Amino acid sequence: MKKIQIVFVAIIAIVITSVMLSNPLQAVSEKQKANAAAIPDSVKSILANSCVPCHTTGGKDIALAAWDLSAIDSYSTKKLAKKARSMCKAIRDSSMPPAKFIATHPEKMPTPAQAKVICNWARSLKEK
Ligand code: HEC
Repeated sequence: MKKIQIVFVAIIAIVITSVMLSNPLQAVSEKQKANAAAIPDSVKSILANSCVPCHTTGGKDIALAAWDLSAIDSYSTKKLAKKARSMCKAIRDSSMPPAKFIATHPEKMPTPAQAKVICNWARSLKEK
């Protein structure tokens, strides 16, 4: 009886392990890790300071449709590179953050040095 129980537990363990290994969700989280690693902390902290609360969960749908900081880790490398370029452009041409928002939150305006960090990051993704 004991032996049968051990065999049974072993079979269950093998089944669970193989399901986990072949789980497509697992594959997504591997990709997420790759992208999360592709976004340097320096970039994330600028986005978190200047672009939140609009471009993350709880922001307006229209802003989230442009890009969503809470979902950015799941973007494909290609999508991330494209978004990074539009972020750089939006900051450079002063269309983002919106002027109305900066009027009441001047401290959220990215500095020229911060804009450079975003644009250099965007360029590095493009070259990959
Ligand atoms: C006060 C809210 C708010 C903040 C803060 C904000 N955005 Fe936006 N953003 C929006 C909205 C709303 C839209 C969609 C409508 C539009 O395009 O104007 C948008 C659209 C965009 C787009 C796509 C349209 C375009 O202009 O290319 C980009 C890129 C963008 N934002 C980047 C940023 C970046 C980068 C920051 C931080 C430096 C930022 N935004 C901060 C509200 C915001």
